[in-house]
Amino acid sequence: MTSLDSLDLDRLDPAGMHRRIAGLAADARRAHEAAAALDWAPRPRPLALAVAGMGGSAIAADLLRGYLEDQLEFPVGVVRDYDLPAWVGADCLLVASSYSGNTEETVAAYLEARRRGVPRVVLCSGGRLAALAAEDGVPRAAYPPGYPPRAALAWSFFTLLGVFVKLGLTGGREREVAGAAGLLERAAEEMGPVAAEAVNPAKQLARALHGRLPVVYSAARRIEPVALRWRQQINENAKTLAHHAAFPEHNHNEVVGWEQPAELLARAAVVVLRDSGDHSRVQRRFELAAPFAGAAGAGVHVVESRGGSLLERLCSLVVTGDWVSLYLSFLNGVDPTPVTKIDLLKNRLEQTGAA
Ligand code: F6R
Repeated sequence: MTSLDSLDLDRLDPAGMHRRIAGLAADARRAHEAAAALDWAPRPRPLALAVAGMGGSAIAADLLRGYLEDQLEFPVGVVRDYDLPAWVGADCLLVASSYSGNTEETVAAYLEARRRGVPRVVLCSGGRLAALAAEDGVPRAAYPPGYPPRAALAWSFFTLLGVFVKLGLTGGREREVAGAAGLLERAAEEMGPVAAEAVNPAKQLARALHGRLPVVYSAARRIEPVALRWRQQINENAKTLAHHAAFPEHNHNEVVGWEQPAELLARAAVVVLRDSGDHSRVQRRFELAAPFAGAAGAGVHVVESRGGSLLERLCSLVVTGDWVSLYLSFLNGVDPTPVTKIDLLKNRLEQTGAA
C-alpha cells in the first residue's frame, strides 16, 4: 500500500503543486491587496457582466457568483466558449479571464466583444490578451507568472472580486477575506503533506477514492461551483475521470441512474459536499438519496464545510478538494502538475490555424 506519510515530494511533485495549494492563503492576501489598488473606475456602470474564460480561469467566476448569490442584484454570465451570447452588448462589461492570456476561446470572445463595442477588462499573466489589452487601451490586472492556471485560483477569484468592488456591486469584505485567508492557512497545517494520514482528512478521503470513480454531489445553490472545482481538480491533478451533480435537480433524474451499469456503480465513491447554509429540504434530500448510492455498492463520504462566513465555508470545501486531488495523484503514481493532453490539444489546434 502506497504510504501518504513521509512523502518524497521532490520525486512525487517536482513542480511543487503542494506548495501552490499551501500558498493559497498568501495568494489570497496578495491578490486582494493588488485588486484594491487597481486603477480603474468603470463609468457608466454596466447593465450586466459577462466573464469569458475556460477551465481553471473560469471557475473563479462561478465560485464568485455562488458567494454573492444572495446579494447580487446584477446579472453575471460565465461564457466558456468562442462566441458571446446576444445579450452581451455595448451596455455590458466583458471580463476576459485567462491565466496564460493565450486560450483561443477566451481570445475569440474578447475579439467578438471588441467588434460589438463592449467595454472590456482583461485578467491574465501575459500572452495574446495582454498584448490586445495594451493595443486597445483596455484595463488589465496582471497575474504573477509561473503558476499552473488552476493553481492560480486565489489570484483569479480575488482579482475578480476586486472588479466587482470597483463596479460597486459589493463592499471590500476585508474581514471576510482576512478570515478566509486564515482558514486556508490552518487547512494547510491540517491537510498538508506533514500531517499524518491518521489525522489528515484529505489523505483519508483520497485513500477512499483511490481506484474508484469519484462522484461529487452538492447543493446547486452557492456550492455547485465547488463540486465542479473538485471534479476538475481530480481530472487535472489526479488524471482521473470524475462526475458531479447538484441537488435538488439530482433527485429528478440522476437518482434513477443508480441501477446500471451495476459493476461500475459498485466502483464509484460519492462525496457529498455539505454546507450549514444548504436549504433544509436539500439537507433532507441528501439524507434520503445517499442510501441509493450505498445500496449500489458505492462508498459515501460527507465533507462538511467549516468556518463562519460563507467565504470561509466555500474556501474550506475548495481547499479540501485541492488537497484530496493532490494525494489522489500520489496514490495513482502520477505527477499532479503536467496536463499533457490539454497541452497537446492546444498545440494541435494551433497547428490547424487561428480560431
Ligand atoms: C491548467 C488548467 C486549465 C486551464 C485552461 C485555460 O492548469 O487549469 O483548465 O485553465 O486550459 O487556460 P488559461 O487558464 O491559461 O486560459
